Amino acid sequence: MEIPLKTLESGFSLPVYGLGTWQMGGRGEADHSNDEAEIAAIKAAIGHGITHLDTAESYGAGHSEELIGEAIKGYDRSGLFIASKVSAWNQGYDDLLRSCEASLKRLGTDYLDLYMPHRYPEPGIDITDTMRALDRLVDEGAVRNMGFCNLTVNRFEEAQKHTNNKLVCNQLEYSLQFREAERRGIIEYCQKNDVMIVAWGPLGKGTMEQGSILQEMAEKYGKTPYQIALNWLITQQNVVTIPKTTQVAHLEENLGALGWELSPEDLARLTKDFPGQQTVSARVPLDYAADVPA
Ligand SMILES: NC(=O)c1ccc[n+]([C@@H]2O[C@H](COP(=O)([O-])OP(=O)(O)OC[C@H]3O[C@@H](n4cnc5c(N)ncnc54)[C@H](OP(=O)(O)O)[C@@H]3O)[C@@H](O)[C@H]2O)c1
Repeated sequence: MEIPLKTLESGFSLPVYGLGTWQMGGRGEADHSNDEAEIAAIKAAIGHGITHLDTAESYGAGHSEELIGEAIKGYDRSGLFIASKVSAWNQGYDDLLRSCEASLKRLGTDYLDLYMPHRYPEPGIDITDTMRALDRLVDEGAVRNMGFCNLTVNRFEEAQKHTNNKLVCNQLEYSLQFREAERRGIIEYCQKNDVMIVAWGPLGKGTMEQGSILQEMAEKYGKTPYQIALNWLITQQNVVTIPKTTQVAHLEENLGALGWELSPEDLARLTKDFPGQQTVSARVPLDYAADVPA
């Protein structure tokens, strides 16, 4: 299917649905035991029209990137949008350049469509060096767009201050369940400043509470609870999402979130009444210690 695009005023665009790959190829260390199934899952996603593939140098210690590199062989590279991330400890000038080169090699490509620091640089690493290295990669054509992950408004503005290239996105944990980005004004800031929000963890890692209001809406619209949750997310202005799945049945279910609309009243009810809303991202804390206060 054709995945609809969201386009910013700057002209930067992303499909509303891309593929996340955290835990494909391992977690902190490389795990080769599921290579075949995971490569097949990435190919299945591309076969279903998905072009945005999201990975990071840290996923499976680089093995996630290798799996994508393997899966995209034979596809037209220009039809894909590959995003990767550099870890917080590799964001000094030389380290960042080295990290990008290694990611490109593992992915088997000579450019990234989007490159993002995975979080604000660790204490002791100067954000100006991080941004200078990203600028160089853009100048040399190795990176087409630069974004950032997991930034509060303060840190986003600080990072943006040190580059003339626009930071096109802030990749954040955001879902019906996790609302920290809303509570702290980050969503509104991105919407007002023409920044895409790439929502990670859109299904609460597959453990989102599916009862009560989601179930009620699912029955009303003839959809599944996760289709309702994903539809709510991508209806938000400037928000796109990147669920991870290695199962074709889940992929097809998730794609069923596209191409129809919840009524404004139901959107508002979901926003307000979804139970057990958590306002702090436990997995990647936005307030972690860095040189610029969160
Ligand atoms: N920038 C960052 O700091 C950051 C942090 C975390 C994640 N991310 C990115 O965002 C992506 C998405 O986040 P995530 O992987 O943490 O969480 P997620 O997409 O909310 O959840 C993924 C989990 O949900 C399951 N799942 C997917 N579709 C399902 C369905 N229809 N029914 C039941 N279970 C389903 C998957 O299992 P199956 O594979 O079995 O379907 C997987 O266990 C990541 O893969 C990664 O690329 C970025």
